[in-house]
Amino acid sequence: MSSLLTSSIGKKFLMSLAGIFLLVFLLVHLSLNSLLILSKSTEAFNLVAHFMATNIVVKVFEVVLFGGFLLHMIYALILQVQNWIARPAGYKVGNYSQSSFFSKYTIHTAVIIGIFLVIHLMDFYFKSKFGQAVQEVTYPSGRILEDLGSLVLIKFKMPVFVIGYLVCFLVLGFHLHHGFQSAFQTLGLNHKTYTPVIKLLGLLYTIFITIGFSLIPLVIYFQ
Ligand code: HEM
Repeated sequence: MSSLLTSSIGKKFLMSLAGIFLLVFLLVHLSLNSLLILSKSTEAFNLVAHFMATNIVVKVFEVVLFGGFLLHMIYALILQVQNWIARPAGYKVGNYSQSSFFSKYTIHTAVIIGIFLVIHLMDFYFKSKFGQAVQEVTYPSGRILEDLGSLVLIKFKMPVFVIGYLVCFLVLGFHLHHGFQSAFQTLGLNHKTYTPVIKLLGLLYTIFITIGFSLIPLVIYFQ
């Protein structure tokens, strides 16, 4: 067990597991956010956000999520620094994945996503959890909900926000394109037949996530 936490391959294994968990989180997060453009009112989005904020299972999941993010980022940094120390002159991480344009910049895209996450959480998550920025709204159905949806709508009417988010989604796409297949290869799915399938799934997943997330600010801005 301790070698899983301390050996390089153990760290890479745990980092990949956390990465796959984050891939699933992004699908859930995109589904919830897409309610903002699929529905004319913010009621559906706010209702699900309220459920997510109050349900005990989701609250436990949220702790696991933040743990997953931290584990993924800390182990990635440790492995990167270990690689730089071992081979200072441009050694590529691991030899189990094909070194492409995308894999070369994984650590750079990771840092940008980390910065994006801090800004993103300060804009929405912390405001909804700890601030007074989220007002309540009464819908014609009689429901009274915290209006997190309108907070997103206001942000995405500002060009600087829309452009900033679109750039970050593109960077996220670059990160996922390499990360998806790399994670599965680390977990042992390195096979003549399966590897091309995983690469294709990774490409489809990346396109879906990048375009899906990008459509939200674009549709809101031009609506
Ligand atoms: C159009 C795109 C996005 C929108 C509109 C959006 C919106 C939001 C909102 C409103 C919250 C607060 C939820 C709450 O407090 O109940 C939130 C939380 C969060 N977002 Fe995003 N988000 C977007 C993209 C992303 C991306 C690409 C990532 C990851 C790279 C991300 C990661 C997170 C995390 C980790 C949380 C905190 C956990 C949670 O509440 O689910 N978001 N987001």
